[in-house]
Amino acid sequence: MLIKNADDIRSSEITPKSLYLNRRKFLAGAAIAGTAAATGLGLRQIVSPSVSVLAGNMAGNTAGNKIDGIQKSPFSTTEAITPYKDVTNYNNYYEFSTDKDGPAKLAQNFRTRPWKVKIDGLVEKKQELDVDAIIKMAPPEERIYRHRCVEGWSIVVPWVGFSLSELIKRVNPTSKAKFVEFTTILDPNQMPGQRRQVLDWPYVEGLRMDEAMHPLALLCFGMYGEELPKQDGAPIRIVLPWKYGFKSAKAIVRVRFTDKQPLNTWNIAAPNEYGFYSNVNPNVDHPRWSQAKERRLGEFFKRPTLMFNGYDQVASLYTGMDLKKNF
Ligand code: MTE
Repeated sequence: MLIKNADDIRSSEITPKSLYLNRRKFLAGAAIAGTAAATGLGLRQIVSPSVSVLAGNMAGNTAGNKIDGIQKSPFSTTEAITPYKDVTNYNNYYEFSTDKDGPAKLAQNFRTRPWKVKIDGLVEKKQELDVDAIIKMAPPEERIYRHRCVEGWSIVVPWVGFSLSELIKRVNPTSKAKFVEFTTILDPNQMPGQRRQVLDWPYVEGLRMDEAMHPLALLCFGMYGEELPKQDGAPIRIVLPWKYGFKSAKAIVRVRFTDKQPLNTWNIAAPNEYGFYSNVNPNVDHPRWSQAKERRLGEFFKRPTLMFNGYDQVASLYTGMDLKKNF
């Protein structure tokens, strides 16, 4: 842990109380999900043990490679960037560990190449794309975004990627598509956290189509001018700076367009604590703590949290919505 102030929320506390209280219900759900995967009903990507044995420093390691031709983005904040060592050693990535310093160690041999992303659901061009083909779809941009975790800490990161809309417009969602769902890889052989029922694996997140098409929504494959470190979501993730960090799913293998609001993992785990929208909102407390302030990693004093994390450009997406109900 980089910060150890008494009022910091311990990493384990993000695991919601109701998850333990509803453990029986949760395990029943997990069993059904497991059966679906085993029978091939679930479209989950499982890497065979033999492939996992190959995984190591020999294979699939592009993390840390410099990215050429990065353009600056007008969406960047001019606030001080959080040091690389803090951002890459203080991670939430429950597939590896529930400890903040766990993913940096445990993800090092995670295999990020070859990597395919399945595009399916309500879309004209259903396909499986190689991650390197996706990365080449548009010029890489550096987007220096504030990133606010639901636990009360924040960071400023120079992400590299391009607007998620660049991918979406190339695959032609049909007019029925109202939401888009993102699924993280399921590979318990490589991800020790997935051998425990901490969450209902694989990790799933979702956005409304207009949120996904908003220029701020970033399809991300790098940070600090280099390809993403594995603990930060390599080879490809989303970054949604106006939402709590858990909406920004890592290591994505599937993008599915749908007419129904996706069930996101944290909402399944604790619906009263983690909503679908999860817009940063200092006026709506988490049931167990205030969201009015945050601590920037490396700083001592807390600072006020801003509505939409300060990204007012998205406010019009939510006109007329009660953001207390739709938390
Ligand atoms: N994605 C997956 N697949 N698994 C996770 O546990 N944690 C989320 C989000 N994406 C998580 C995830 C949370 S709670 C946060 S705050 C951010 O990732 C952290 O991203 P970072 O480690 O790159 O700062």
